Amino acid sequence: MRKNVIAGNWKMNKVLSEAEQFVEETKTRIPSEEKAESIVCAPFPFLPVLVEKAKGSDLKVAAQNMHYEDNGAFTGEVSPVMLKDLGVTHVVLGHSERREYFAETDETVNKKAHAAFNHNLTPIICVGETLEQRENNETMNHVEAQVKQALSGLTEEQVKASIIAYEPIWAIGTGKTATSEQANEVCTHIRNVVKQFSSEEAGEAIRLQYGGSVKPANVDELLSQSDIDGALVGGASLEADSFVQLAEAGA
Ligand code: G3P
Repeated sequence: MRKNVIAGNWKMNKVLSEAEQFVEETKTRIPSEEKAESIVCAPFPFLPVLVEKAKGSDLKVAAQNMHYEDNGAFTGEVSPVMLKDLGVTHVVLGHSERREYFAETDETVNKKAHAAFNHNLTPIICVGETLEQRENNETMNHVEAQVKQALSGLTEEQVKASIIAYEPIWAIGTGKTATSEQANEVCTHIRNVVKQFSSEEAGEAIRLQYGGSVKPANVDELLSQSDIDGALVGGASLEADSFVQLAEAGA
């Protein structure tokens, strides 16, 4: 009943010509939007060109971050108004790399989630624990707190439309994937938290991705889990063929 959503997070990779070639090579090969959602999360400078290139196809284009204000004296920042105007549909919020290197907090993630909905952008909200937190059995509490703070103040409809990406930090770019059981256990917890926090219906509707060393070889098993509705993929989303395989797995 929930449609899978496969998103490739390129992070700070590629130059424009490579990005354009990627879209050219993938846009006609990904599954139709009725079967699964396929998204590329690209660096800001590529967004207008990629949106244009992806027009008429089922490939959607997302930003990897944004500011929560509409405009103003925020040198170097990009606003939701700008993203919407370009035709961007989704925005990644609170990725662990932004939390670690760019002082992103649960509070700013929450402000950004509100800003995204105010401008009709779908947020992909990232949560996840460090290795130390996992070893100290703090995973569930930590992720629960992140989810509640990120969604705070959103309407039930907005919660339903949100996407949460569970990305255990120890599994990002390390080749260490959480087992599908470990990933599902946390996603089930997130779904239950959303049910209590918002409503049963919102918990059933919200889509939960897993992220952390996802690749064509392990995506099927992850997606077969009861509470995993997609993947947020870094390294393995950079090659067109690999991204197409991941997207097909979502259909
Ligand atoms: O946002 C995706 C991510 O952080 C996972 O990266 O390279 O482990 O797939 P990777």
